[in-house]
Amino acid sequence: MEQYTITFLPEYKTVTAQSGETLLQVQIRAGLHPDAPCGGKGTCGKCTVLVDGQQVLACQTMVDRDMTVTLPETGENRILTGGLATQCQPDGANRYALAFDIGTTTVVCYLLDGISGCLLAQASTMNPQAQFGADVISRIQEVLTTHTDALKISIRKTLAELCGQVCSQAGIAPADVGTAAVVGNTAMHHLLLGIDPSPLVTPPYMPGVFEALELEDRELLPIGGSVRLLPNIAGFVGGDTVGCMAALRFDRLEELSLLIDIGTNGEMVLGDKNRRIACSTAAGPAFEGAKISCGMRGAAGAVDHVWLEDGQVRWHVIGEDTAVGLCGSGLLDLVAVLLELGIVDESGRLEEKVYKLGDTEVTLTQKDIREVQLAKAAIRAGIELLSEQLGTTLEQIQKVYLAGAFGNYLDPASACRIGMIPPVLEERIHPIGNAAGEGSKLSALSGEEFEYARHLAGGTEFLELASLPEFQDCFVDALEFEEDA
Ligand code: FES
Repeated sequence: MEQYTITFLPEYKTVTAQSGETLLQVQIRAGLHPDAPCGGKGTCGKCTVLVDGQQVLACQTMVDRDMTVTLPETGENRILTGGLATQCQPDGANRYALAFDIGTTTVVCYLLDGISGCLLAQASTMNPQAQFGADVISRIQEVLTTHTDALKISIRKTLAELCGQVCSQAGIAPADVGTAAVVGNTAMHHLLLGIDPSPLVTPPYMPGVFEALELEDRELLPIGGSVRLLPNIAGFVGGDTVGCMAALRFDRLEELSLLIDIGTNGEMVLGDKNRRIACSTAAGPAFEGAKISCGMRGAAGAVDHVWLEDGQVRWHVIGEDTAVGLCGSGLLDLVAVLLELGIVDESGRLEEKVYKLGDTEVTLTQKDIREVQLAKAAIRAGIELLSEQLGTTLEQIQKVYLAGAFGNYLDPASACRIGMIPPVLEERIHPIGNAAGEGSKLSALSGEEFEYARHLAGGTEFLELASLPEFQDCFVDALEFEEDA
């Protein structure tokens, strides 16, 4: 096999590659963390690089000579770290505690004072597993087809790095940390622990491990004590949802409440102190920029809000920069505005071939609108069927808590205008920020809170939407946009 030298610009990083490797594989091996939402299938178009001045997809380009590859500039990603501040009495068992929230896209770490519960330091980064695909299915498939532990190793390395960063900010050593808690969706949980993820992609899509775990394992995390992993409820409802529920004190809520965490999946819980039912919807990563022609994450250059002013379309760009793409909240707003203007009709048909946002390079295609319809219909069908299962009407839902980054930045009016959330609930929407991270903090600070998370998970019913005969009809009905609200 021939060996070649690949030079990546602008860093001038040089690596040796073998003929037949793709440029994406070489980038991953070189530790360059490329963006590869489709996991290298050649379908998302997000891995473009320049080779000899030509734009190519890195995942579809084989190494066949010495090459100089120019990588795209990447803006700083906006990572949500704040959220609810739930009252909690630390048990004081440890001087320092760490809490992690492993999202499919981002990872956040908090260092806490184990006596007062105060936040001492925090750090966040992108989930390095994104180079194997934006969604959990691509990553699970990567493990199942290659049988590598590259995903486990990469996330463990990231946790250790974040731990090192927050400890050095606070002037302590990782060994001084007595306990840590971790929340994440079920796939993140399994990939971190090296548990076989195949049950998650095989009916009935249940976790290999449900229960809460407390492990002393320096290879998992190099701290002085144990690591608590919140329990999973189902294959696609994991410890992050349990963390959100713990932060909301869900089993004490008097009012009928709906919790929605929209990430690369949409998990939701409907209920109150008497009964709780959870489900997950295959919303897909459209709202995180994947599968959308001009889609991108919430970083500098992303259009994050679009609105109408005196009949004119206006928009805001993160970092007040030149607009280069649309992040989830901007995408949602733009579709709502186009519906308002009649440029998109109720069936989702776009009047023009491509809609161009003013004088920017940002465009929206018919296919993009179809992706939004699929995502919003999945979420809406989940809401309708949960409420049916619980024997309530949509009007009876008193509070809608939106967790996660997308939920934090989206405009409730746009979410209701496109029908993702029933319009009757528009005034009852409350963003709660990184509630999963808050739940992780609670379990890090107190053994009783960890026990509480276990109890919450155990007392939550799970509804498998796909198994309901009415799911398909409900989903198809939800594909249409709402008539003018
Ligand atoms: S097109 Fe290359 S990673 Fe998606």
